[in-house]
Amino acid sequence: MTGRVAWIVGGGTGIGAETAKGLVARGWTVAVSGRRSAPLAALHRSHGAHPFPLDVADREAVSATVEGIIAELGRIDLMIFSVARKETVSPGTYDYDAYARIIDTNLLGAMRVIDPVVAQMRRQGGGEIVLVASVAGYFGLPRSAAYSSGKAAMIALAETMRTELAPDGISVRVVCPGFVKTDFTARNNFPMPFLIEADDAGRRIVSGLLDSKRFEIAFPRRFVLILKAIRMLPYPLFFRIMRKLAGVRKS
Ligand SMILES: NC(=O)c1ccc[n+]([C@@H]2O[C@H](COP(=O)([O-])OP(=O)(O)OC[C@H]3O[C@@H](n4cnc5c(N)ncnc54)[C@H](OP(=O)(O)O)[C@@H]3O)[C@@H](O)[C@H]2O)c1
Repeated sequence: MTGRVAWIVGGGTGIGAETAKGLVARGWTVAVSGRRSAPLAALHRSHGAHPFPLDVADREAVSATVEGIIAELGRIDLMIFSVARKETVSPGTYDYDAYARIIDTNLLGAMRVIDPVVAQMRRQGGGEIVLVASVAGYFGLPRSAAYSSGKAAMIALAETMRTELAPDGISVRVVCPGFVKTDFTARNNFPMPFLIEADDAGRRIVSGLLDSKRFEIAFPRRFVLILKAIRMLPYPLFFRIMRKLAGVRKS
């Protein structure tokens, strides 16, 4: 046993749950959070994960949960934020309320968690914070403006925090998955190139976190390389590719 404690927010299902299982297998004590109790209880029964139901929209509940984990498990060595709100926004519409709901969960939800976790990690003399962003944050993807811009902001946030928190012994990393088979992608009605299974994603994350010190854990490799190459193209060429992806003609 390593005696180390991880807290996975969004750990009840999908990528978070598979990462939780992998960490348990490597001897970690794992706390998992999400709004629904049932998936957390299932993970408790199958893998001994400690359930802490939580809605990241509720700032007071986030602080109470951090206190609860410290009371029960003693510390938080690793916090992984693997939360996402699934909401379809029609391309070309910029409805404020829909954007606010998505950004409030995906980005501000992370901020509500990061604030008390950084304070706790400073008190205990260090730790690790991992934000699950997405390759969708590499550039403004057509058809997913709210999701893509929130993930781009999350990558920027992780980059800033990595530099700023180093003196406190707090390591910050980012995970950028491509398409992964989970509830989140189950109803996508468009092609998902390089789609991988959730347990495969979990294995890659656990290995990236425990067996390397890389800032970015991104996969699958070929998809990541293609997208990073597109990001570096001059804008006229970049937008030609984006229009093709979106099936949009230039007026
Ligand atoms: N699947 C992909 O292709 C893919 C690709 C790139 C990045 N990602 C990222 O990977 C992460 C995990 O997604 P996933 O694919 O594993 O989908 P998922 O199974 O739907 O996981 C998302 C988790 O977020 C939790 N959640 C949602 N709103 C919440 C809230 N307000 N408070 C607390 N928890 C909340 C959900 O639990 P409750 O509903 O019980 O709250 C759920 O367990 C997300 O950040 C997503 O953006 C996924």
